[in-house]
Amino acid sequence: MINPFYLTGIIPGKYFCDREKETKSITSFLENQGNVLLTSARKMGKTQIIRHVFDQDDIRDNYYTFYVDIYSATSLREMVFFMGKEIYQRLVPKGKKALNRFLGAVKSITAAFSLDPVSGNPRINLRLGDILTPELTLEEIFGYLEAADKPCLFAIDEFQQIARFPETNIEALLRTHIQKMNNCHFLFSGSDRHILEQMFSSYSKPFYNSAQPLFLDRIPKDKYISFVIGCFAESGREIDPDAVSYCYDLFDGYTFYMHKVFHDLFAQDTGKRVIRENLVSNTIETILGEGEHGYREQMASLSTIQKQVLVAVSKAGIVSQPTSGDFIKRNSLPSSSSVQKAMISLMDSQFVTYRMIESKRAYQVSDKFLELWLRVTY
Ligand SMILES: Nc1ncnc2c1ncn2[C@@H]1O[C@H](COP(=O)(O)OP(=O)(O)OP(=O)(O)O)[C@@H](O)[C@H]1O
Ligand SMILES: [Mg+2]
Repeated sequence: MINPFYLTGIIPGKYFCDREKETKSITSFLENQGNVLLTSARKMGKTQIIRHVFDQDDIRDNYYTFYVDIYSATSLREMVFFMGKEIYQRLVPKGKKALNRFLGAVKSITAAFSLDPVSGNPRINLRLGDILTPELTLEEIFGYLEAADKPCLFAIDEFQQIARFPETNIEALLRTHIQKMNNCHFLFSGSDRHILEQMFSSYSKPFYNSAQPLFLDRIPKDKYISFVIGCFAESGREIDPDAVSYCYDLFDGYTFYMHKVFHDLFAQDTGKRVIRENLVSNTIETILGEGEHGYREQMASLSTIQKQVLVAVSKAGIVSQPTSGDFIKRNSLPSSSSVQKAMISLMDSQFVTYRMIESKRAYQVSDKFLELWLRVTY
């Protein structure tokens, strides 16, 4: 039996939960106004909604869609490499004519693509080293998208990475191309709101006002509860809505963590009984137990003060002023300057993240499973 709680890969429409409003508005922005900047907390569902938007009939029938995740890219060269590869791979099923049009446009890397002499199938030998002139290749890629025989949509996931590229003026370079394009719209996405907001909303930055910002919030609780009940009902099983609600609250509605719990719960043989809260919490305990070794290693990589601060944040759940006298005293932490230093490094290493509540930063542990483990362990 298929587990309806997909944790990786493409989620079939039937098992894609809600996001109806967001799907409509992203689609409509891309079709009408232009570029979109999609942000959310980590693991909320950005990547999945991009795939889902691209899978809508309207989009599939009328656009070429491309998706690159540049999380692991550390230079413009690598980003261009990912883009070139993605376009080529997406065009392969569309046939020789579409491919040749692309190859004719990207002269700087044409040599990396060939046809298998025996089968006649297209082959790709593109290696990072083949991108000798990333700026030129990028220009060719954009030129191709602009001239393609259908409008194009290009998603660049984890877009904040470009701020870390060593080359200078990347933002200006990209912006110059992108603002000239009519045939291709872009969907930029990422979870580092701090960097992305600076990029797109400060007046002095090249990307200022160049994309419609959309913030992806939690899936509403009632929608998530009916989704989970429906998934279990499909295989003749019953889950108590309160048990789903308990899980939703515990993980503050963060999609991935709830989904992992119900995925693992679904995989268990729970017999004919109604699934209640105790089975949900047993499943969570098992998940934390499985993660324990990793959590301990993560803790070992931290200094004493970083660990103390992380534990204090986990116990508080959400902290608006970690350097305040009150927080420091309550958690027996040392000076506020050392707490501040520890917070900065915890944020850099993504142990801690923040979200905006009434225009103020509110800090929390990024990984919700780690957060729970810290609470029960320390
Ligand atoms: N609408 C949805 N329906 C069903 N499952 C979903 C949905 N959205 C997200 N998920 C689940 O949550 C997981 C995380 O989603 P996704 O990878 O899209 O988040 P993300 O915001 O891109 O995360 P990251 O910040 O790590 O890039 C998915 O693998 C899937 O299990
Ligand atoms: Mg993602």
